[in-house]
Amino acid sequence: MSCSLVLGAQWGDEGKGKVVDLFTEEADVVVRFSGGHNAGHTVVIKGEKYILHLIPSGIMHDGKVNIIGNGVVIDPEALIEEINDLKARGISFEGRFFVSKRAHLIMPYHKIFDKHSEAKKGSKKIGTTGRGIGPSYADKMARVGLRVCDLYDEEVLKEKVFQNVEEVNLIAERIHGLEPLNPQEVFESYKKYGEIIKPYVAETSYMINKLYNEGKNIMLEGAQGTLLDVDHGTYPFVTSSNPTAGGAFTGTGLAPQSLNNVVGVLKAYTTRVGSGPFPTELEDETGQRLRDVGGEYGATTGRPRRCGWLDLVATKYAKMLSGINYIALTKLDVLTGFDKIKVCVGYEYNGKVFETFPPEIKILENLTPVYKEFDGWTEDITKVKRYNDLPENAKKYVEFIKNELGVEYALISLGTDREETIILNKVF
Ligand code: GDP
Ligand code: IMO
Ligand code: MG
Repeated sequence: MSCSLVLGAQWGDEGKGKVVDLFTEEADVVVRFSGGHNAGHTVVIKGEKYILHLIPSGIMHDGKVNIIGNGVVIDPEALIEEINDLKARGISFEGRFFVSKRAHLIMPYHKIFDKHSEAKKGSKKIGTTGRGIGPSYADKMARVGLRVCDLYDEEVLKEKVFQNVEEVNLIAERIHGLEPLNPQEVFESYKKYGEIIKPYVAETSYMINKLYNEGKNIMLEGAQGTLLDVDHGTYPFVTSSNPTAGGAFTGTGLAPQSLNNVVGVLKAYTTRVGSGPFPTELEDETGQRLRDVGGEYGATTGRPRRCGWLDLVATKYAKMLSGINYIALTKLDVLTGFDKIKVCVGYEYNGKVFETFPPEIKILENLTPVYKEFDGWTEDITKVKRYNDLPENAKKYVEFIKNELGVEYALISLGTDREETIILNKVF
């Protein structure tokens, strides 16, 4: 009986999909606990690429149980599309895929308000994925949201849909000059979605705890990343959930004592999609090279990702917040061929150097990173299977990160495929 959490240590897209897929080999159950289809988790198996949005990456392993926990917000239309796409590619769902009755739904008006609010903000926009994530979580907190279980009580569903749609129509028309929605149409489409996903719907909090108590290995799959956390991230340039460890408990119903390992997925450099502060961003040729070599274009929206050097101030903060005890270092291969590689080890602002991640956006935007510089390597490392076979300069870089963070590596990833990985420690 064991439980390991895999989460993003940066601003998302660290390679969580690949890491979860690899460790699923030893897991019995994989659970998503936060976010929604704003996530895009890439798994490459023998050259074939799959991008998971809502469905846990463990679905790629036959026979493993996959659960969408209560902390996730679900757009049922997107869920059905994802299930159908994966089924068409030969992935089975029967008896091994479950969706929490308590998870909140993304409604059509959430998507409309998400996009409209971004358009209105102009240059101050957050750069959301436009999937309705923020408005859905806002309704959850305002206690007016609809949950998966509401889809199965026609009276409740109708009442809630009509109440919400009539209310949002007033705001949409009078304040934003938007077209109103037809509540009857929304009711009917959600009733239909409910019927389609019914075979998968379950009381997952009890289910996960039962599986854990039966001795199963549980993998909790984080989405987004630490610095996009609504509490701990670069607010307001964040998502609307808790991708840090705390979210794994509220979002599944598992108790904190269940957790054995926390794997922080860390890209060997940094990327960010959307707006907001990014202290080590490189808006020059070096940044462009990271983007080109790393294929840094969003898995969900296709947007070019902003790129920069690794930031150890931010990573130490991530370690502290979630109790990370293993690092999964990804995309080290992308740094091959760089003459010099830099790592941020401190921030300088107003003549003072510090090593804590500040809450103030103004400070984050105006500080100067303090860098330590490393010599690069030129050897192709994608086929390396043993740590000792890495080039000396790559080892120096990797050792430095480990020593600064004071944690062991679970793995070092050297390419997109399952095979292109050096596994150093098991997490189950
Ligand atoms: P996630 O959201 O954290 O699951 O990450 P994404 O899937 O959005 O982005 C990570 C991208 O990097 C995907 O295209 C992966 O296929 C790719 N990737 C993962 N690990 C490696 C690696 O070690 N090397 C290279 N070159 N690409 C990787
Ligand atoms: P994975 O799981 C990277 C970013 C968006 C935007 C902000 C808010 O693939 O790592 P939202 O639509 O959530 O309200 O957008 O959060 N964002 C991500 N960036 N990876 C993700 O997921 C993200 N999910 C949301 O770009 O800046
Ligand atoms: Mg992603």
